[in-house]
Amino acid sequence: MLPMRIVPDPILRQKAKRVSSIGGSLQRLIDDMIETMQEANGVGLAANQVGVLQRVVVIQLPEDEEPWVFINPEIIRREGEREVEEGCLSIPGYRGMVRRSVKVRAKGLDRNGKQVRVSAEELLAQALEHEIDHLDGTLYIDRLVSRDQLWKEEPREEPQEAPADGEPVEAGRTG
Ligand code: CO
Repeated sequence: MLPMRIVPDPILRQKAKRVSSIGGSLQRLIDDMIETMQEANGVGLAANQVGVLQRVVVIQLPEDEEPWVFINPEIIRREGEREVEEGCLSIPGYRGMVRRSVKVRAKGLDRNGKQVRVSAEELLAQALEHEIDHLDGTLYIDRLVSRDQLWKEEPREEPQEAPADGEPVEAGRTG
């Protein structure tokens, strides 16, 4: 598991560079990022967040069996606008209301260097926008619907009954 960079670490405000070769060290970075995301119970992670300025993101929604890996990802189309609650592993203890697209179309390379395109909505669209923003040094706090729409997270209450399968699934988690 890699150490998480936390605001105000300046690397979170830097633009990551395009990946030009997909070799062993990149595969190792991807594996470490996936493990770090899963351990932190996040839905996504961008390389900046573990101190690496390369355009790599990983995403895993609660319903995904396998994580998504995107190298050099780009949003190529955005549709609609909505307000959603969001958090970030690099801004622990806070959540906010942000403006996001309803649908996005994105392209990039998978971990084998193969071109992939994805049409996404709901949480996947939100995660793609959030993580690709990280690669450009943008954080969700830059996209708040208004400045007072950022708040400290309430300490999580213990569930009445332990869920059968570990952590309860929450809609608002992100990376
Ligand atoms: Co984040």
